[in-house]
Amino acid sequence: MSFVSSTNPAKIELHLHLEGGAPPAFIRGLAKEKHIDVGGIFDEHGNYKYADFWDFLHVYEAATQPLQSPQDFHRLTLAVLEESARNGVVYTEAFLSPDFCGGRDVGAWREYLHAIVEAAEIAEKTMGITLRGIITPIRHFGPDKARETAICAAETAGDWIVGFGIGGDEKSGHLSDFKWAFDCAREAGLRITAHAGEWGGPESVRSAIDDLNAERIGHGVRAIEDLALVDELAEKGVVLEVCPGSNVALGLYPSIRKHPINELYKRGVKVTVSTDDPPFFHSTMQKEYQDLHEAFDWDDAFFDQLAKASLDAAFCDADTKARLHKKLEQAND
Ligand code: ADE
Ligand code: ZN
Repeated sequence: MSFVSSTNPAKIELHLHLEGGAPPAFIRGLAKEKHIDVGGIFDEHGNYKYADFWDFLHVYEAATQPLQSPQDFHRLTLAVLEESARNGVVYTEAFLSPDFCGGRDVGAWREYLHAIVEAAEIAEKTMGITLRGIITPIRHFGPDKARETAICAAETAGDWIVGFGIGGDEKSGHLSDFKWAFDCAREAGLRITAHAGEWGGPESVRSAIDDLNAERIGHGVRAIEDLALVDELAEKGVVLEVCPGSNVALGLYPSIRKHPINELYKRGVKVTVSTDDPPFFHSTMQKEYQDLHEAFDWDDAFFDQLAKASLDAAFCDADTKARLHKKLEQAND
């Protein structure tokens, strides 16, 4: 079985939080420029420091404090895409949160989005990576804020903002509390994903499908605890945005070898591979590939199929998909 990390095949990433991709040095530099004290969120090596998932959410929010203007998000987008492109990623869907971009005010959100898209256009020309956005309320901020976020999403839905999701603390409230927001986004033409089955069990994955009509699930890995649900996911073709390195770093599984991604795949579930918040988890897409190769013998041919299947599950329009399929074929065949 071959997979040589130096080959760096072309990759598709469907689950990446834009702020979660911020290199710690970038946030430290921005905080210094603006004389902002972000608190003790870094360890002695300058990496993000957190004790568990809930502490991670606090550190994540603290790290967003220096991101205060559209120009800051322009710089962030370039920094994140540069690292993704270095890892062979040719297409990314990033979660964008109007909560951190002008506090869910539609006018302000438009300005932030404009700056992000402008940076993405530069990255496309200079680094060969394509970005699209999925707007994402933060679950523990509650359903009212999610409604405001959905209005930002509906106002900017189109060829670039292609989806709507939800992240944050899966133990906060119930997914059905967010039905209004998801209906609003869907009616505006947005495709639906939701974080579920990471800190919640199989019932959380069921709720994402039944209550929100999600066609993709962020993580979803704990579906493995209910094999009838696994069969249902396989039958319905629900796509899991699996982030193995994130799950191990946050203590959901002790190692990649013990991670259920391969079992889910073997049972017919459409799995994809992403990094979630790479600098927080000391991960990159290339490292995810290397770890999966070592744990499950996934080889070049397997990763080639994985990239194609991931692109099929992307929320972008058909022309963009066709162009990127050609790119994958040229790069990986
Ligand atoms: N936001 C950023 N990373 C997340 C994760 N792994 N789960 C839920 N919300 C998140
Ligand atoms: Zn996530």
